[in-house]
Amino acid sequence: MLLIQQGHLVNPATKRSEVCDILIDGDTITSIAPSIEAPAGATVIDARGKHIFPGFIDLHVHLRDPGLEYKEDIHTGSDAAAKGGFSTVCCMPNTLPVNDSKTVTTYIVNKAKAYGKCRVLPYGSISKGMKGEVLTPMAELLEAGAIGFSDDGKNVDNAEMMKIALEYSSMWNALIAAHTEDPHIGKGGVVHEGFYSSKTGLKGIPDITESLGVARDIELAYYTGNRVHFCHVSSKRSIELIRQAKASGLPVTAEVTPHHLFLNDSAIETYDTNFKMNPPLRSEEDRLACIAGLLDGTLDAIATDHAPHAIGDKEKEFDNAPFGVIGLETALPVTLDLVHQGKMTLEELIAALTVKPAAILGRSDLGDVSVGRIADLSLWDLSATDTIDDSYFASKSHNSCFKGRQVVGRNTLTLFGGKPVYER
Ligand code: DOR
Ligand code: ZN
Ligand code: ZN
Repeated sequence: MLLIQQGHLVNPATKRSEVCDILIDGDTITSIAPSIEAPAGATVIDARGKHIFPGFIDLHVHLRDPGLEYKEDIHTGSDAAAKGGFSTVCCMPNTLPVNDSKTVTTYIVNKAKAYGKCRVLPYGSISKGMKGEVLTPMAELLEAGAIGFSDDGKNVDNAEMMKIALEYSSMWNALIAAHTEDPHIGKGGVVHEGFYSSKTGLKGIPDITESLGVARDIELAYYTGNRVHFCHVSSKRSIELIRQAKASGLPVTAEVTPHHLFLNDSAIETYDTNFKMNPPLRSEEDRLACIAGLLDGTLDAIATDHAPHAIGDKEKEFDNAPFGVIGLETALPVTLDLVHQGKMTLEELIAALTVKPAAILGRSDLGDVSVGRIADLSLWDLSATDTIDDSYFASKSHNSCFKGRQVVGRNTLTLFGGKPVYER
């Protein structure tokens, strides 16, 4: 048994925010009270001065396993998650081969389970090979443990295919996560189209590249009545469309990344490829719209789009480097700044990393530190300061856009199913 004493628990699922003791037996939380006497033989953890958060849930990561293990694998990706306080990560199917089969889904689920540092819930692809031509065997993938479907990295260009995918997935209430990107407008672009694309001479991707896709998929949600989840929303216009869709009662949800909340396109002036991702860092106006969208609930969850790329991949001319940045380790330390700036409460921020993504997944059993629930949680020292540098990462790749940043807030312990999986 494990007794965590006198930590400040912030648990948005039950609107609890108070100092308490938490007793864990095996993998389950068995008691939460102002004070609990330590049972004989229990391990006691002194959490005075620390905050306790439910294990975070990341709706969007790339673990690169199978096939691209030189960038990341399920073990190092799980380590990065554990360090960041994440207990559940949903991994995208753009592996080698693509996760469009029972075999790959089973491989991912089993490898993650055997390692046991976090829960890995894989997305199957919507189309075979993510080629946009033929649908995957969705029922089979779900049976093997897929949480939903996405062709992330690519737009599903054929609206009829997306429509059918939505109709099928609704039979199991499975999530369809849409990476929206018009296939023609902005094609070949590497940065946001605007002042800085002109200044740097880098080819631009206009905001409508994203919002055209958002508009289409909102219409598909309207037509089918089925749920669409929008990945990594980055533009003011997309957010306006999602806000309107929600107001008219359409079943849409959305996520936003820490980098779109904290950085704008001025970062690309350095030509540093660690600022290259898709969708790109956008204008300051877009960034502020992302914050406003998170605050008013238009954007439900914070997801990292953790996209590891090896140094050799990223050390190229800007045009030729791959899109993507890592984000698991830095997610909370970076976004805590929204709380420090007084823009949102700690409870609201933690909700965007726990109860809200849990609801999108239909997994109300996760992201909730309550009696009877699984003991996924982390202990944070919210006054400790760190500088994000290469030593900060557990991930195999270090392609972070937050390197050099000072952050206040340090994870000191992650428990996954009652077991310590990260300690500092
Ligand atoms: O930045 C990105 N990286 N955007 C994507 O759509 C794909 C991802 C990756 O797999 O690296
Ligand atoms: Zn994407
Ligand atoms: Zn992605």
